[in-house]
Amino acid sequence: MERRAWWKESVVYQIYPKSFCDGNGDGIGDIKGIMSKLDYLVWLGVDVVWISPMYPSPGYDNGYDISDYESIAPCYGSMEEFETLLKEAHARGLKVVIDLVVNHSSNEHPWFLNALEGRHAAKREYYIWRDAKKDGCPPNNWGALFGGSAWTWDEKSGQYYLNLFSSRQPDLNWENPSLREEVYGMMRRWLDRGVDGFRMDVISLIAKGNDFSDGPVGASGYHDPRARIAANSKVHEYLKEMKEEVWAGRDVMTVGEASATTLGNAVLFSNANGSELDMVFQFEHMDLDGGETFKWNDKTIPLTGLKEVMTKWQEGLYGRGWNALFWDNHDQPRMLSRLGDEGELRETSAKMLAACLLMLQGTPFIFQGDELGMTNMRFTSPAQLRDSESINAYERYTREKRFTKEQMLHYISLKSRDTARIPMQWNGGPGAGFTTGTPWMDVHPNHAYVNAEEQAGRADSILSFYRELIKVRHRHPVSVYGRYEPYEVGNENVFAYFRIGKEETLFVCCNFADVTTAFAVPERFRSKEARHLLGNVERSAYLKEGRLAAYECVIMEVKENDTTN
Ligand code: GLC
Ligand code: CA
Repeated sequence: MERRAWWKESVVYQIYPKSFCDGNGDGIGDIKGIMSKLDYLVWLGVDVVWISPMYPSPGYDNGYDISDYESIAPCYGSMEEFETLLKEAHARGLKVVIDLVVNHSSNEHPWFLNALEGRHAAKREYYIWRDAKKDGCPPNNWGALFGGSAWTWDEKSGQYYLNLFSSRQPDLNWENPSLREEVYGMMRRWLDRGVDGFRMDVISLIAKGNDFSDGPVGASGYHDPRARIAANSKVHEYLKEMKEEVWAGRDVMTVGEASATTLGNAVLFSNANGSELDMVFQFEHMDLDGGETFKWNDKTIPLTGLKEVMTKWQEGLYGRGWNALFWDNHDQPRMLSRLGDEGELRETSAKMLAACLLMLQGTPFIFQGDELGMTNMRFTSPAQLRDSESINAYERYTREKRFTKEQMLHYISLKSRDTARIPMQWNGGPGAGFTTGTPWMDVHPNHAYVNAEEQAGRADSILSFYRELIKVRHRHPVSVYGRYEPYEVGNENVFAYFRIGKEETLFVCCNFADVTTAFAVPERFRSKEARHLLGNVERSAYLKEGRLAAYECVIMEVKENDTTN
């Protein structure tokens, strides 16, 4: 049995503030809007909210390019309002985790503006500078994630700076102790203000290492250095130091975004004796439908691949680390659109996906709108796009004539970050109840029937199912701490598993197919001793007739009286 902790027993809800709720009608979500929905979140049953960045930012990467780590951007409100939000959340028993983005800052951060003053500027070494090669070319062939080289030329000082994401997001130099001290001080001040922890943006990439050599080139025309950077062990030293300096002795929750990381490293990040972080997001399951042209294709995730990856992480971190579970977030398309059904079986498939995720081992993260069965946006014009990643990709792939404009819009609708960042659908009215003004991104036309208001009072809605599911999670510690064991690994339609504890065992089976599937429920879970906890299909035939309806899921429980193991 795992050691108990509140953050293991919590269900987290991710708020993407720009699209959550607009309190003043300017079309942009804000703190006032969040405040007005706290009761909704409590009613839903979640324990923690993670709020994506609300700091001042030029907005090149939608707030993940921060120009001031210790203020609130005016479009979201003020520090005073943020402190009220904390108080109101805490009064309702909700914890609040904020985003920490310290792999890079904005190029408009005062540190970087100072660094640009020249080679001897006070903050110069807060960033990573290299000379050009003899021919004037960048120091190596690394690419930035949002396009182009990972190196940007600074004319004035005659050096390149490193930017793993975009030239407007210069990477911070973690080797510099003064930089680290500044970051720790800033984090301590947020904790003093009352936040309950941090979600740490691309934390696996902060330690760049010494290997700045060229690497194999991918479809982007550049080398993607993320795996090699994530393999550098220095990051563990920094995180241990950060823990000691920032939150040792405080009761907080920390979750690291561990892009490009291995299981071995994730075990270290989230190790059971707590010397680094509490848990990590891994992305292996998100990359299963990638391809030669990065994510721009219409491939889908194969269920067997998904099961294999999830099983690897479930087993690999058991007793050694801790998983942060998610199907989607502000960087991913909706899982419902990826593996579920957007049509007639939308509700059934959304419930099934929720059950499959929330019964796994780890701390589950619900992205705003998941609980309503929100789907990917269908973009019909590039003017609807807001994210530099999609805008740059659209521009480049159509310019290079790799894809037509229609194709590219299709792929962006399927796979982009924009597709899940559209406004939250509160009701069926204009602006989806998100705003009374003009929303910063178009609302999905399906808000007419996919919305919170319609679902709140309906017992068989997706929203009601999420509430029930969260209750199951809270009432059955085995769903948090039990050991995961897969069932029928080779089944191409059904993802089924046990959660095994001392006092009870759960059996979860999820049909990912859009057709009825024959499925033999294990003997014990067909017997009288088994109790049906939750399902998504009325008059289920799975027990009597041995088959699961399209997208059916069932959660069963048996009590264990064996106290010896
Ligand atoms: C993380 C964030 C993403 C951002 C990137 C760079 O992956 O989740 O939204 O663009 O880091 O900060
Ligand atoms: Ca607003």
